This record gives sequence, structure tokens and C-alpha cells, in this order.
Amino acid sequence: MSSAADTRARLRVAGGGSISGELTVPGDKSISHRALMLGGLAEGDTHISGFLAGADCLSTLRALEALGVRIERPSPEQVVVHGRGAAALSGSSAPLDMGNAGTAMRLFMGLLAPQPFDSVLIGDESLMRRPMERVAAPLRQMGARIETREGRPPVHIRGTPSLHGIDFHLPVASAQVKSALLLAGLGASGRTRVTEPAPTRDHTERMLGAFGVTVQRDGARVSLEGGQRLRGTSVHVPADFSSAAFFIVAGLIAAQRGLLLRNVGVNPTRTGLLEMLKLMGADIQLHPHAGEAVEPTADIEVRKSRLRGIHVPRELVPLAIDEFPIFFIAAALADGETTVRGAEELRVKESDRLAAMAEGLTTLGVDNHLLDDGLWIRGGSGFGGGTIESHGDHRIAMAFAIAGLAARAPIEIRDVANVATSFPGFVELARAAGLGLEAL
Ligand code: S3P
Repeated sequence: MSSAADTRARLRVAGGGSISGELTVPGDKSISHRALMLGGLAEGDTHISGFLAGADCLSTLRALEALGVRIERPSPEQVVVHGRGAAALSGSSAPLDMGNAGTAMRLFMGLLAPQPFDSVLIGDESLMRRPMERVAAPLRQMGARIETREGRPPVHIRGTPSLHGIDFHLPVASAQVKSALLLAGLGASGRTRVTEPAPTRDHTERMLGAFGVTVQRDGARVSLEGGQRLRGTSVHVPADFSSAAFFIVAGLIAAQRGLLLRNVGVNPTRTGLLEMLKLMGADIQLHPHAGEAVEPTADIEVRKSRLRGIHVPRELVPLAIDEFPIFFIAAALADGETTVRGAEELRVKESDRLAAMAEGLTTLGVDNHLLDDGLWIRGGSGFGGGTIESHGDHRIAMAFAIAGLAARAPIEIRDVANVATSFPGFVELARAAGLGLEAL
């Protein structure tokens, strides 16, 4: 197991306050992982700008280096990957450490399964508890030789240079599983087809196109032909919608004069939160950027709004899967009841996010009820103060930091070092916007 982040790091946020101004949040985590990996499989150089220099993506970067890929970083947000094609990768004698990054581990399983060498994938305490059979099982159907420990890491991949495409129906809506199978499909013979039960983020499909790979989309099914070569390209990573989400809700709570978030990725497979908040009466305006970018971007303007509770439409759940911690904060402030169902995937994220949020909301005096597959919240009475356990989960920590804007007393959040996995500079940016936040 990799060394755990310092569990003693804490945040304290003063109750109340207001925020305003213009902010740019760091680059998209999902897109940064993919840009590195596809760059490592490609022939020729890939120039990445707007890269997220967070711990998760740095785990991917180091793993690629351990596999023999030469990578340069002219600045923290700029990366040049000197790809020499998938066949030039070489095995690592040491285990590849994915840290806290589920995306890295699952996508690397697909990327490494068709390679002729053995690999071992490990991670931190949280990642070592997360389910990996959802990727291992379909990869075995493709001919891969993969072992997990009772479904969890470490993941042992035995070299198998002869995978074949399959026609697979995903039992859970998961972009990570879809992406892993597409990456394995590139190194397999024949066609790999993946059908989703509901749309999930399509960054892999879009980016493969930019690297010169033909990917077919036919309704819920995406497929590609094995053996296609990737050509190095330029990737501009937009600001991460999932990081912007914390400030979108902060703006709804406390931006009387408005808050502007610049250059945010607004791929419709990521922006379910906007639909949910609009159903609650949120004042949010998108100013889309013109042009034919691989990923659509916009400036997002938010204003303090009175929210009302909703039943979240189930089809929006996969489109907002990472935004529920901060959504629950918004729901706790909305008048009336909010219910989320069909969100059992939240139990196997960096923490059990349903349980962690229910526990934290209870600490702050919010009436809520934990369901097997969701959460019921009665909102509208604000937050008291208290001490919150983040369970080492970056998004739980940041969600409760934002809750401070509507709290009657200070909130302290424990075990917050992992904020750096997705949002380096969160504390500084939040303070600059007006939040009374301190790192302890
Ligand atoms: C991700 C997909 C989602 C999401 C994760 C990033 C990706 O996971 O929660 O943070 O980059 O593909 P699932 O595919 O497991 O839903």
C-alpha cells in the first residue's frame, strides 16, 4: 500500500460571510488522466496545457514514466508526453502506485491488459478498499489474465498480448469501466463494443478522436476496432466542472453581487448538477465559448438564490456523480424536502459518500435520512457548527468547507490532506473569493 496522506490536516471555516469576484479553478481531472495515458500510447509528442497538477494525475504521470514513457513538464500546468506507441511500453519491476486515484487504477487496468509484460497496481488505504472486479471481469472475457484480492487491489495483470474484442453491456453506469474496455480494445483484435445503461462522461471517446482513432457511437453503444494507432496531438484541458461545482453552490449561498467561474468544461455528460440546481430555482447563467473544441467550455455566472427541495430525476444521477457531496449542501439549504435515489454508486467512491454526508449533515443539525441508494434531506434551517469527519475524501471536505458560508458557528473538518488530489490551491482560492477558511 502507498503511504497515506497526513490524516491530521484540518480545515476550519468561520460561519457566514459572502463571496464574489471571478475565479478560475484548476484543470479537469478526468481529462488530465486521459491526456497523459493516450499521450503515452501515441506515436509522437502530445502537448497538454491546463493540466491538473493534483496528486491523482501525478500518480498517472509517474506510472507512465515507470512504464518507460518520457515526460517533460515545462511548467506545472504544461506537460509534454513523448509517446513512442503502445508497443514501446516496458514493464515496471516495482508495483505501480495509483495513490487515491480510482480513475488511474481502472483505466490502467485496460491500458495494461493487452501488454506482453506483468504489472501490479496498488493504491492508498481508500483505493485498496474499492471494487475492481467491475473492470477485471470484462477484461477476462477479452482474454486478459487479471487477479484481484477478493475483488479489490492489489491488481495483478499477467502479460497477454492476444486479447480479442467483446460485446459488453455495463451492469453499472461507469465511465471508468467503459474507458478501461475501450483502452483494452485498442490493443485487442476485432471490435470492442460497450453498451451503457445510462450516458456517462464521454471524455475518452472524444479524446480518442483527437488522437486519430475512429470511435463509433450508436445510441447507448460505443465501439472501436482494435489495432488503431494513436498520433500525438495537443490537448487543452478546461477547468474542472467538478471543482467549479463547489463555487457554484457557494455562489448560490452567498454571492449577492454574483460570482463568475471562467473557462469551465461544460460537457453535457458532466453537468447534471446544473440541471438539478435549476430545478431548485438557482440563478445560473452559462456564457458558452465559441469554436470547435473537443470539449465545450463556458464561463458560468452564479447569483445568490432561494432554493426549493426536489426529487432528483434518476437519469441525472450519472451526469452528476461526483457532485453529490456539494449538492447535498445545497439541498440542506433549500426549503422543503429533497430526495436522491438510484445513487448507490456513491457508496464506493473515495469514501461511502452517502454515509459520510448523512453523518456530517446530522452533526450540523440538518434533518436527514440515509437510504440504501440515496439520501432524504429536509432543508431550510441552516447549519450549526461542529466537527466533521471527511473520511479522507476530498469532495466531502470541500463540500463542508463551503457549508461554512451558511453556518451559525465555525465548522472544523478533519483529515483533509486529500483535497490536493483534485483541487490544489482550494484554500487559497476560496479565501480570495471571501470564504473565512483556514488550513490548520
Ligand atoms: C470518472 C468517472 C466516474 C467519477 C470519477 C471519474 C472518470 O467514476 O466518479 O471521479 O474519469 O472516468 P465511475 O466511472 O466509477 O462512475
